[in-house]
Amino acid sequence: MDLPFFTEFVREVEMLLQNPQVQKMRLYIQHGDTDCLLHCLCVSYLCYRICRFLHLHAGEMARAALLHDLFLYDWHAPGHPRWHGFRHPGFALYEAGQIMPLTKRETSIIKRHMWPLTLIPPRYAESYVIILVDKYCSLRETFRRPDKSARALRVWVSHENEKHP
Ligand SMILES: [Fe+2]
Ligand SMILES: [Fe+2]
Repeated sequence: MDLPFFTEFVREVEMLLQNPQVQKMRLYIQHGDTDCLLHCLCVSYLCYRICRFLHLHAGEMARAALLHDLFLYDWHAPGHPRWHGFRHPGFALYEAGQIMPLTKRETSIIKRHMWPLTLIPPRYAESYVIILVDKYCSLRETFRRPDKSARALRVWVSHENEKHP
């Protein structure tokens, strides 16, 4: 994989990637033909790169971003929880807390990633990074126009799935 910082990135998130709850995100489409796990991985990787560049907390950023949409239901299907856009950061925060103890920064990244939809503005620079990156990735996924890193990550994920089905 020739993406910048990719080896270091995987080292930060590989424990989480092996978690069965995290793997369940593969079952749910997030936008276009992108499942929730691939979406979270793309957001996490880009956030990680930006945080490395800006000398922010890249490890916490990568882990929280990987869990930012860990709500584990199909939000397109009938019967999903109402007000998904407003409420899913809270669901993801709860699920993430079941997997690992969260720092205040990680909590903020997950809880505030939909701002300004969720009204209270975040306190951490990393939260603003995910707010922007999540919207960027979501738009590209919705229009099925993945950027270079999203295309590379899709291939990497499918190889990993073949190795560990
Ligand atoms: Fe989200
Ligand atoms: Fe997202």
